[in-house]
Amino acid sequence: MSNPLLAARGLVKAHGSTPALRGASVELRAGEILAVTGASGSGKSTLLHCLAGIVRPDEGAVVYGGERLDQLPENRLSELRRTEFGVVFQFGQLIPELTALDNVALPLLLAGTSRKAAQERAGEWLERFGVRGQEESRPGELSGGQAQRVSLARALVTGPKAVFADEPTGALDSLAGEQVMTALTHTARESGTAVLLITHDAQVAAYADREVSLRDGVVIAAGHLPSGADTSAEVTR
Ligand SMILES: Nc1ncnc2c1ncn2[C@@H]1O[C@H](COP(=O)(O)OP(=O)(O)OP(=O)(O)O)[C@@H](O)[C@H]1O
Ligand SMILES: [Mg+2]
Repeated sequence: MSNPLLAARGLVKAHGSTPALRGASVELRAGEILAVTGASGSGKSTLLHCLAGIVRPDEGAVVYGGERLDQLPENRLSELRRTEFGVVFQFGQLIPELTALDNVALPLLLAGTSRKAAQERAGEWLERFGVRGQEESRPGELSGGQAQRVSLARALVTGPKAVFADEPTGALDSLAGEQVMTALTHTARESGTAVLLITHDAQVAAYADREVSLRDGVVIAAGHLPSGADTSAEVTR
């Protein structure tokens, strides 16, 4: 089996006096979809933020491609986040002044892609997530589910090595949820993108190759899911 793309060991993180993580360990491989489940408040979002280099853990290590993410200086960390990671936040965070198309095109523009090419690629990703036709809408004019899909398109448009998605199907009905999961699975298989996916929906978790469950800030169960046991598409780096 290939080495993990990303590995977290013994993560401890408190928000003020509230413990969120109390020694959580998890690994993510290229091309793998990992579902993270657990009750509300169990530390899922905090774990995702630590793995994506958004929040520094108080203790423990996050290793990405041989680098200690938790020890990187802020400038290198933000470069890494911009070029290799895609994040879908639990509470949206699209830029309200920009249209859906420009929200998705923005990471490409920041990376130096021409406006025309960026908008073209952004349009393709909106299509993949079934929100073609909303190009000109601003986030305030989108439904919750449409906004989630635009956020996913924005996270994937640069072809990141790892995608971190916090409840990306939370506002979707089951048909739209299936469409999103099909597109995510396709991307993981096709491009070797690693996907860490927080969900409370068993149907969504069933698309994953593996599931870990959090309770009170620690991983209590980890295992392969019978439906996703196929590792034939695993990418060796
Ligand atoms: N910014 C913050 N300030 C204070 N406490 C926080 C903050 N963020 C999270 N917490 C606390 O840390 C713990 C873990 O929160 P976290 O958001 O990681 O849980 P979660 O599993 O993502 O929950 P949910 O399913 O509701 O999104 C909770 O007790 C929460 O109240
Ligand atoms: Mg959360």
